[in-house]
Amino acid sequence: MSQLSSRHLLGIKDLSPTDIQLILDTAENFKEVINRPIKKVPSLRDITIANVFFENSTRTRLSFELAEKRLSADVINFSSSNSSVKKGETLVDTVNNILSMKVDMVVMRHSSPGAPHFLARNVKANIVNAGDGTHEHPTQALLDAYSIREKLGTLEGKKVAIIGDILHSRVALSNIFCLQKMGAEVMVCGPITLLPKHIESLGVKVELDVKKALEWCDVANVLRIQLERQQIKYFPSLREYSLYYGINKKLLDQLNKEIVIMHPGPINRGVELSSDVADSEHSIILEQVQNGVAVRMAVLYLLAGVRN
Ligand code: CP
Repeated sequence: MSQLSSRHLLGIKDLSPTDIQLILDTAENFKEVINRPIKKVPSLRDITIANVFFENSTRTRLSFELAEKRLSADVINFSSSNSSVKKGETLVDTVNNILSMKVDMVVMRHSSPGAPHFLARNVKANIVNAGDGTHEHPTQALLDAYSIREKLGTLEGKKVAIIGDILHSRVALSNIFCLQKMGAEVMVCGPITLLPKHIESLGVKVELDVKKALEWCDVANVLRIQLERQQIKYFPSLREYSLYYGINKKLLDQLNKEIVIMHPGPINRGVELSSDVADSEHSIILEQVQNGVAVRMAVLYLLAGVRN
């Protein structure tokens, strides 16, 4: 089988392990392509893609745009902050107007959970979720899985601790689905107020002590405190969060083993991660960003094969 089971990428929840394996294996081929002197292939020469962003982004937006250009697609970029959305135009009207210009695929980031699912039901184009509120961020989970597989050889049986603001994190949910589907064990760790109620029903281990989480895991995926999504105070101060949950070199030096440090970005340096860890040999943070281009090339290439 060399086709995805869906014409959209809305979330990891909908993907089968075979879909994920296909994306990761295809990304490996594209990683080889983007390391060549000529980094472009003609695969999506006849395709036009719109990147539609209703929320801020650095990595995801640039990574999708570069992936599209490496595949020779035509690309247009839409940002809600300087658009007619400000005059009251709806999401569906906005996207249908973009599609009427003969656009084939839409990559969308939106602050509302479920917005890409709603769009997929209401417009005629392949939809790729580039992050929907606190819900899912499927391409981040795929590039995280790719990066762990590249570093450790396999995901099967690996222990991954996701540490930080799990409650507001789309990266956490997509990672939990993706890692479990690929045979890894997952733990979540953070202050009790930043862990969703009943999170253990997803089959993850729950740990409140960051030292114990680091002792358990092969990989620590450290998440940002998402102050912009927090309407109330979940902990007394950033200084106190950093004291109890911040990962620094002293903490890593106390472990009797090496672990891999990941972070989806943007990093709050000195809060969830100290600079001497973020920039250390343990960290694969910039490799994650590099792999994101190859993984997004794979997703777009495979979705283009299931257009109708
Ligand atoms: N990891 C991630 O989604 O980063 P951006 O918000 O910068 O796209």
